[in-house]
Amino acid sequence: MDMANQLSPIHIACIMDGNGRWAKRRGLPRTEGHTAGEENLAEVVRVCASRNVGWLTVFGFSTENWVRPPAEVKHILSLHKKLFGRIEELNANNVRIQWIGRPFDEPSSKTPGFIQKAILQAIDDTAHNTGMVLTVAFDYGSRAELLRAAQLSRASHLTALDVSVDEISSHLYLPSLPPVDVVVRTSGESRISNFMLWQIQGAKAYFTERTWPDFDAHEIDNALKLVHAH
Ligand code: FPP
Repeated sequence: MDMANQLSPIHIACIMDGNGRWAKRRGLPRTEGHTAGEENLAEVVRVCASRNVGWLTVFGFSTENWVRPPAEVKHILSLHKKLFGRIEELNANNVRIQWIGRPFDEPSSKTPGFIQKAILQAIDDTAHNTGMVLTVAFDYGSRAELLRAAQLSRASHLTALDVSVDEISSHLYLPSLPPVDVVVRTSGESRISNFMLWQIQGAKAYFTERTWPDFDAHEIDNALKLVHAH
């Protein structure tokens, strides 16, 4: 076994699915499922920060999610404000937060002003932390990211043939984000849904029947075990 590899910090990327089903099973409105999902994310952050996880990336809201019923969208947005407001907890766990999504200054951006403010404030308030990096994908979609990277790469070259893998990588939203080691999807779904398509090249995939609000430390350890398995 390669010890150096075992000790290097791992990048987990989670597609947090099944909040609606979690709520339905309990006879609760879908919004309650999202509330429980946000609370569980805070717990997952704490657990991952205490493991050998260097990078945790979560799919909070996709470019495709805007078509959900307005009341549900409003609720999920308020939960993002709550998440980006968890500064004390993030600092206590030495977690630095970042955001990935359509840049605010692009015409296609849909991130409302109050979320932009919450994101920028949280980035600023946790910038000094040196432990795990939590990247929240909001108004994120891989195709939009890759299309933009291809356009920017092409713009900086005389001929299309000069465009390289490294060039495209350098024009992703967060070029410094390391490759994903394991991509997780909860709730019995095994689709990737336009999430980190470039960054998951070579990643393991962990699919579980558990809904996101029930995704716990044991599940995290199962996903981490996959990274070390050959
Ligand atoms: C999927 O559940 C979840 C999402 C739409 C995105 C993730 C949102 C959360 C975990 C809640 C808030 C989180 C943050 C990051 C602030 P679903 O509605 O698709 O569930 P279903 O498939 O059972 O209907």
